[in-house]
Amino acid sequence: MAAEKGKPAVHAAIILDGNGRWAEKHGVERKEGHHAGADNVERLISNLRDTGLKYMTLYAFSTENWKRSKEEVSALMTLLTMFLHEKCGEMMKNKVRLLATGRIDGLPEEPRKALQEVIEKTSVNTDFTLILALNYGGRCEIADAAKQIAADAVAGKIKQEEIDETLFSKYLYHPEIPDPDLIIRTSGECRLSNFLLWELSYAEFFVTPTLWPDFTIEELKDILDQFKNRERRFGGR
Ligand code: IPE
Ligand code: IPE
Ligand code: MG
Repeated sequence: MAAEKGKPAVHAAIILDGNGRWAEKHGVERKEGHHAGADNVERLISNLRDTGLKYMTLYAFSTENWKRSKEEVSALMTLLTMFLHEKCGEMMKNKVRLLATGRIDGLPEEPRKALQEVIEKTSVNTDFTLILALNYGGRCEIADAAKQIAADAVAGKIKQEEIDETLFSKYLYHPEIPDPDLIIRTSGECRLSNFLLWELSYAEFFVTPTLWPDFTIEELKDILDQFKNRERRFGGR
């Protein structure tokens, strides 16, 4: 593939981090930080039109986040359910289609049902796709794909020699979604934390010190401008 520069981004993936530190900074409980983070997701939804993007994946809960206290996990699940019920209208207004990625079956019933409802309702929207990564782990996604490939091989549906990157990709959670062009992590941490390990192979990396609840659409637009000035070589020259 030839080097690329100047092309606008189509898909941005964001690790929305720093809700806890935001809460600490404001002297409130961690759960208030998560509330402020959810409000920021809503602000983003209302302004997506101005970004030129078609897809955005938000890392909201990882397969490792179950290690947090029972109270925090439960507050996050309640918040997710509330968010889905309350913001469905905003998604419809902004023609946003919602999808989820991750082991959705492993979520508690309430958020799982709310998710199903909003995904169904917003499926008519075509302007923009918002993908919430929930109970998501990159290694888990790859292992799940390998498991299904093995099952299909045993059943005689595919041959071992047919297994290559293209076939493997088809077994990921959302093969129809293009890989993210860029990955943004808020709150200054410089790690992937098990996010989209396969899909981010050639994504451009942006780390901002801004805590997620303070991350604005202006900062997103600034990052998207910087993205256009990066030369993407894909291993070529
Ligand atoms: C991100 O904020 C939200 C989730 C992981 C659910 P954190 O809760 O990780 O915030 P910090 O890292 O403690 O500041
Ligand atoms: C990554 O953030 C997961 C999400 C944002 C959902 P964490 O805050 O859980 O990651 P670590 O623990 O700092 O790596
Ligand atoms: Mg964190």
